[in-house]
Amino acid sequence: MKGRVFSGARPTGKQHIGNYLGAIQNYVKLQDEYECIYCIVDIHALTTLEDLDQLQPNIREMMLDWLAAGLDPEKSILFVQSHVPEVTELHTLLSMITPLGWLLRVPTFKEKARQQPENVNYGLVGYPVLQTADIILYKANMVPVGEDQLPHLELAREIVRRFNNLIAPVFPEPQAKLTTAPMIRGLDGQNKMSKSLDNHIELAATPKETEKRIKTAFTDPQRKFRTDPGRPEVCNVYDLHGFYDSEKLEEISQQCRAATIGCVDCKKMLSKEINNAMEPFRERRAEIAMRSGYLEEVMADGAERAGVIAKETIREVKEKMCLL
Ligand code: TRP
Ligand code: SF4
Repeated sequence: MKGRVFSGARPTGKQHIGNYLGAIQNYVKLQDEYECIYCIVDIHALTTLEDLDQLQPNIREMMLDWLAAGLDPEKSILFVQSHVPEVTELHTLLSMITPLGWLLRVPTFKEKARQQPENVNYGLVGYPVLQTADIILYKANMVPVGEDQLPHLELAREIVRRFNNLIAPVFPEPQAKLTTAPMIRGLDGQNKMSKSLDNHIELAATPKETEKRIKTAFTDPQRKFRTDPGRPEVCNVYDLHGFYDSEKLEEISQQCRAATIGCVDCKKMLSKEINNAMEPFRERRAEIAMRSGYLEEVMADGAERAGVIAKETIREVKEKMCLL
């Protein structure tokens, strides 16, 4: 084993192909080389207080998608953040050595404060401290994240260095491992695929739903008529073809430019490719969902194994901070 990987993701419910291509696929691969810990960060989700009623269903749907996609509780620790409450203790202890100025400068904090001026809560400021606690509670060496998380990772490293200098050398400095997948654009053809923009395709969607959503996708805006030549390089449907059937790309590109294929047919082909690729996933998901009590078992087992590591780290931290 090369070391320990930790990653967290907010409970956004059913995952979409952007989540899969951008993150989950990579999580699955890392399982064979590293000791991996993957966490659904439900406490972090509370900083925005959206749809509290959806929190539990969202956690379950997400865990189901993770399992169906190949995250394996035999290989990795899969758990829900609040089930290992030691993280909140470490968060409080880390907050004592984290200068407020560092936190007020974090770009995601400034953005959130702009987005929800009526709810600039204390938890929002501490968000990256809690994220640091997530990672270092397990003394993780590597954190697979998207580019948007780099400032948080840099801050985590600064907090670690400060703790190690001021208190005692307890924690390894976690390295960010950038996921190499390019940005997956949503069906609007412009923004990153995301549930909140409703421009996504769910992994667990039925073949019909998938086809229906892809029909609505924006393509080359300059291609108004079937006889107009298209520009695959600006087309989001074309990009998606690349992820599912890269061998056909050249042909599609030529046919699009020569206007020998229409967007309707091109989208039909894409729906077929995605539905074919997703079929085994969808079967596994349905099968796992049928096993009563299985999700609870996976989450309880994950929390228990994570808890063993967490308790050990907390004991060490409290000892070094003279609390014992
Ligand atoms: N902030 C991350 C996000 O919004 C989620 C997260 C919480 C996380 N704790 C983490 C990511 C620890 C990596 C490691 O996506
Ligand atoms: Fe995009 Fe395909 Fe239409 Fe070309 S034919 S613009 S690649 S959807």
